[in-house]
Amino acid sequence: MADLVLVERKPPIATVLLNRPDRLNALSDELMDELVARLRELDGDDEVRCVVLGGSERAFAAGADIGELASSSAIELYYARRIERWDAIRSVWKPLVAAVSGHCLGGGCELAMSCDLIVASETARFGQPETSLGIIPGAGGTQRLTRAVGKSLAMDVILSGRVLSAREALAAGLVARVVEPELWLEESQRLARDIASKGPVATRLAKEAVNRAYEGSLQLGLEYERRLLYLAFASEDAGEGLTAFGEKRRPEFRGR
Ligand code: COA
Repeated sequence: MADLVLVERKPPIATVLLNRPDRLNALSDELMDELVARLRELDGDDEVRCVVLGGSERAFAAGADIGELASSSAIELYYARRIERWDAIRSVWKPLVAAVSGHCLGGGCELAMSCDLIVASETARFGQPETSLGIIPGAGGTQRLTRAVGKSLAMDVILSGRVLSAREALAAGLVARVVEPELWLEESQRLARDIASKGPVATRLAKEAVNRAYEGSLQLGLEYERRLLYLAFASEDAGEGLTAFGEKRRPEFRGR
């Protein structure tokens, strides 16, 4: 059987593609296990500084595997340790760029939102259609979508099943960039290489600080950012980056 997740490692970036085309990359337990394992490996790989996560041209992912959900009891789902997998993705250190083309629905949308930023093809369609199935989003959709686009639009998407186009998602702040259909992966990889060229300690700390803004209160976030700045300042990378600027040369970051 084909791998459910394909990895292309081209330091300083790596690309991870969901590969379950006959099910529009529906996120089965097996696929999620494989995804988490691959992301963990790449997170521990010193030569990889940024990871792109994508699906196919037709679908980033069309949600949780509905067949699996339909045949499981609530307790079976609980014992399948789904929450731990999502937490593992959330705690990846390296910056994660979601490259979204086509359907990005339910758990697929939640997976894209679990990445640090989303690059969307003009063809991308974002939605949380769970209420049509009589359930609700369960991997952060009600929280992350609301923070990204605000209450009113999140209610519309989650309660009515409205699907957002790439342009609507851009205007609402859900995605960072919209690109032409044939460039969804290439542009995401280009962005990942840009991110990978920055100081690795700095991008890690900046990611942590931005997540604080997104996840906590302003006061706590500001204090957190201040501490992380001093930590960044203490890194060899900061010394190199600041010196290189004065010497008019490109910095050579070593991630220390
Ligand atoms: N889980 C399991 N299988 C899925 C799936 C999912 N979330 N989404 C799509 N598939 C399967 C379809 O059943 C179909 O299988 P088949 O060829 O054996 O019939 C195959 O993937 C292709 O999907 P299809 O529905 O034929 O494609 P389409 O282009 O007509 O429609 C969607 C695309 C995304 C609109 C439609 O597949 C859909 O609504 N999927 C479910 C989305 C959803 O509710 N997600 C939230 C889950 S909690």
